[in-house]
Amino acid sequence: MKFTSALSILLGASSAFAAPSALPDGVQLVPRIPRAAQRRALRQTSPLIPATSAFKEDSAAAGNSSHVDYSQNWAGAVLIGSGFTSVTGTIVVPTPSAPSGGRRSTQYAASAWVGIDGDTCQTAILQTGVDFYATGSGSVSFDAWYEWFPDYAYTFSGFAVHAGDTIRMTATVSGSTSGSVRLENLSTGRSVSHSFSNQQGSLCQTNAEWIVEDFSSGGGLVPFADFGTVTFTSASATTRSGTVGVQGADIIDIRQGNSVLTDCSTSGSSTVTCTYV
Ligand SMILES: *[C@@H]1O[C@H](CO)[C@@H](O)[C@H](O)[C@H]1NC(C)=O
Ligand SMILES: *[C@@H]1O[C@H](CO)[C@@H](O)[C@H](O)[C@H]1NC(C)=O
Repeated sequence: MKFTSALSILLGASSAFAAPSALPDGVQLVPRIPRAAQRRALRQTSPLIPATSAFKEDSAAAGNSSHVDYSQNWAGAVLIGSGFTSVTGTIVVPTPSAPSGGRRSTQYAASAWVGIDGDTCQTAILQTGVDFYATGSGSVSFDAWYEWFPDYAYTFSGFAVHAGDTIRMTATVSGSTSGSVRLENLSTGRSVSHSFSNQQGSLCQTNAEWIVEDFSSGGGLVPFADFGTVTFTSASATTRSGTVGVQGADIIDIRQGNSVLTDCSTSGSSTVTCTYV
């Protein structure tokens, strides 16, 4: 996108100045946030939070997957390796609903995204995805976003997501504190993207993941929505030596207290499926 490339040039150029005060007025404040994007106050995707120790792992449930880990906030598949440079996957946006017994006035939420790092590497996450919201009274809404943890998420404006949309998500690393993300509507070919540079957290490039998350807002996990099923298809990641599929990925399910809330698995080399249970 024109605006972001101009921005990267500006940001790149800024290091050549002796001091930030040498920048023209206003340039310093434009950073990393296209003007049209809104900061979603306090909404944040967090690194994986392990579930309480007694329930961390369940090899018996893992079938032929390498193993199942339990987390309080992440469900899906994570490749653990080195040198990951990109990750991609396509979802059909589900219709979320309140979990059974949910309250009419409560807003429930969940998110589906692809990203680099955030599991064994907890210093940064480069990611993009779609949030799903549902109230007990049946209203639903969606939000497309990008985030470089530890910063908050920012909404892509002009990309109104609906249930049933087929969205390809891609995150690409260009350096330990820079990269880009893209969401594409595969029905129309329309896409939105964002470039990051000079981010606060450094990537390790040791994790590539396809995740359904109970994300954080205001310091706690949001009430988790029944997201139905989210299937990532055409899921792959690249490393310096080529493209890899999801085979051998760690499978993670969300467990909060004694309740397991998701059932995730991989099939073949390019599909990750998570179902709310
Ligand atoms: C694991 O693989 C074996 C052999 O391919 C198959 O028979 C079995 O059903 C699989 N188990 C699960 C839980 O998928
Ligand atoms: C994706 O394309 C479909 C078909 O044209 C459209 O109905 C939907 O609103 C689009 N969604 C986004 C996020 O662009």
